[in-house]
Amino acid sequence: MNIQTFDLLGGRTPEQFLREYWQKKPLLIRNALPGIDGLLEPDEIAGLALEEEIESRIIVERSPVDWELRHGPFTEKTFKNLPKTHWTLLVQALDQYCPPVSDLLSLFEFIPSWRIDDVMVSYAPEGGSVGPHYDYYDVFLIQAHGQRRWQLGQMCDDATPLLPNLPIRILKDFQGDQEWVLNPGDMLYLPPGLAHYGVALGECMTLSVGFRAPSEQDILLDFVHSQLQQVQQDKRYSDPDLLPQANPGWIGPDAVERIAEIMRRAVSDPAKISVWMASYLSQTKYEREPEPPESDYEEDEVADLLQTNQAIRREESSRMIYTGDAHRPEHFFINGAEVEIPPLTHSLVLYLCKQRIYRPTTLEMFCRTPECLRLVTQLLNQGILYFEDDTFQEDDYPDAEE
Ligand code: SIN
Ligand code: CO
Repeated sequence: MNIQTFDLLGGRTPEQFLREYWQKKPLLIRNALPGIDGLLEPDEIAGLALEEEIESRIIVERSPVDWELRHGPFTEKTFKNLPKTHWTLLVQALDQYCPPVSDLLSLFEFIPSWRIDDVMVSYAPEGGSVGPHYDYYDVFLIQAHGQRRWQLGQMCDDATPLLPNLPIRILKDFQGDQEWVLNPGDMLYLPPGLAHYGVALGECMTLSVGFRAPSEQDILLDFVHSQLQQVQQDKRYSDPDLLPQANPGWIGPDAVERIAEIMRRAVSDPAKISVWMASYLSQTKYEREPEPPESDYEEDEVADLLQTNQAIRREESSRMIYTGDAHRPEHFFINGAEVEIPPLTHSLVLYLCKQRIYRPTTLEMFCRTPECLRLVTQLLNQGILYFEDDTFQEDDYPDAEE
């Protein structure tokens, strides 16, 4: 699929989309991803739901107020025993198991990659739905097969009433006021908190590109925890400027200010914050280590393979993030761990962070520098990069105009 962001956003530039819609209001884009039908097979999705390490759920609607939730892994028998209609299979993190789905993420590269959570897929027969609900995150819903009718409703928050005693969050009072039928290739963007209700019109598959926004609680907790290890134990509260006070039980503004200063010093250094962010936000969604190759690559071997136009990909669950100047990386993190940036590898690091599939001719050029060849070999031997079986196809690469 060779799609430009301009078409994906219905003729809008990323700037227009971000300014007018992102986190603000929904947008329907007809035919955003023409040719997506056929990218996924229902059997393939059902097959993934049998796997132990893949997060999957089945939601069955017994009646509008009676919903059942089952967690995977499932067996073939589970699928045989499901009703004919009104159920949905959800499989998380399809981007990690299905390289063509991972490739779709490059269409969203105008949004920082650390904001992306995963791509979930839903498969449903006629009437299948997860009910009227809202999510805490932005989502792009891509109709991958068949048709789904979407209704959009009110903005919600934690105070919005839900139906009681159900295993899933279903709105008690869904006020649908917009309705669209999505066909394969159509895409619907929804901001966080907007009520939505999608019902399958016949067999259908929907991809949800979901974003993540860490809670303020999690941000503070993890940042403070990371800084604690760096604070010297013997650094104590001190008050050499203490003045006498009439009531010893009083905490006065001077004492509050001394404590506030300790806190400000700990949390307000942008350099510390950016390094912590890179570490925290490059952690993978699941604790699954990339698999190293059966035997280590030698640098010469990598240089030779790059000459043969052998495609290279980033292992699908791996996250790469850098800090510093946009064009001059200072810290480079992969999957929560810092990777040293050797001299002369800055442009390579930028290229690795920008894409998920790498043009062999571009990598080959980088790898004429020994430091770059060493870094690429190191990442191949860690399983963070891997040689694909296929050779390079021009259309597969998002950096076509480089
Ligand atoms: C679905 O694909 O059925 C549900 C996606 C969503 O509503 O977030
Ligand atoms: Co939703």
